[in-house]
Amino acid sequence: MERILTGIQSTGVPHLGNLLGAILPAIKKSHENANAFLFIADLHSLTQIKNPEILKKNSLSTASAWLAFGLNPNNVCFYRQSDVPQVTELAWYLSCFFPFSRLSLAHSFKDKSSRFIDVNAGLFSYPMLMAADILLYDADVIPVGKDQLQHIEIARDVASRVHTKYGEVFKLPSALLNSQTNYILGTDGTKMSKSNNNTIDIFCDENDLYKQIMSISTSSTPLNEPKNPEDCTVFHLYSLISNKKEINDLKNHYLSGGYGYGDAKKLLFNKILIKFENERRKYNEFNQNPDKVESILLKGAKKASQVGDEVLNRFRKKLGFN
Ligand code: ADP
Ligand code: TRP
Repeated sequence: MERILTGIQSTGVPHLGNLLGAILPAIKKSHENANAFLFIADLHSLTQIKNPEILKKNSLSTASAWLAFGLNPNNVCFYRQSDVPQVTELAWYLSCFFPFSRLSLAHSFKDKSSRFIDVNAGLFSYPMLMAADILLYDADVIPVGKDQLQHIEIARDVASRVHTKYGEVFKLPSALLNSQTNYILGTDGTKMSKSNNNTIDIFCDENDLYKQIMSISTSSTPLNEPKNPEDCTVFHLYSLISNKKEINDLKNHYLSGGYGYGDAKKLLFNKILIKFENERRKYNEFNQNPDKVESILLKGAKKASQVGDEVLNRFRKKLGFN
């Protein structure tokens, strides 16, 4: 069976965009594939976050969110990247096989180095660590967003360069592009993103969630006039989490007039609370039980380590290191 593997950045508590765009589709895929590897990419987060408390907290909340939404750690090898340090050894080897000039052309580095103050060498060699994440586990299929396609190409490229020198060592991975249909809008009507400060944080407390939803930008159409559901962010978000009848009912309210955006926002707020009631509860349970999450992640790391050791030894032998 093909091995699916993907890494999740741990830059904060997952929001509604992360949930609908990445978490739910990946969990669904993991139910169909008993050979999935899913990890929290905290070594990659270190390129941006230097506060140990925050780094730890982000890994815990990311893991709690995935577990709350039904990731089954008995079926999926679920681990934290930093718990399998073999990956950093492999990243070093790989970086000795990849041209500096090629790495300096990577889109993601160019993008980040133009935006970030801390342009460290880790940011530059990020694709080598990502290639190691993939190649260390003989992964076949890597589900990613469009922005990560070049990184998968780099992983294939560096593996091929090793093969040219030493014969076959690694499996060549293929990218599986996540569908772009789930492009979730944030409170200001642009793409929901932590960096746009426009997120709906489904795991935060009710008061804060209410405030976020009330802050969604809407048009200035007066209360009694009909409204266009198609260009309304409140309607867009409601449609993503409701059934056909509920969506139709809201559409009719918009089109017939006399229904304000405030009413629609309250409806959305209640929908989120009802829809995610269990997940919000489970998230809090996991988040307040770090030992439990820790033991799940360590169990995953143990399994990942076994696979990793095998592949790494294969490569070490070729290199002349044992
Ligand atoms: P952010 O933009 O908030 O920093 P990340 O870049 O950490 O989010 O995204 C983590 C995952 O969530 C990625 O797979 C990304 O494709 C998905 N994702 C983030 N925001 C959205 C969105 N608005 N719509 C759909 N998917 C999203
Ligand atoms: N760089 C990826 C992102 O920003 C996260 C990631 C790290 C990853 N290592 C990976 C994804 C390996 C897939 C495979 O989303």
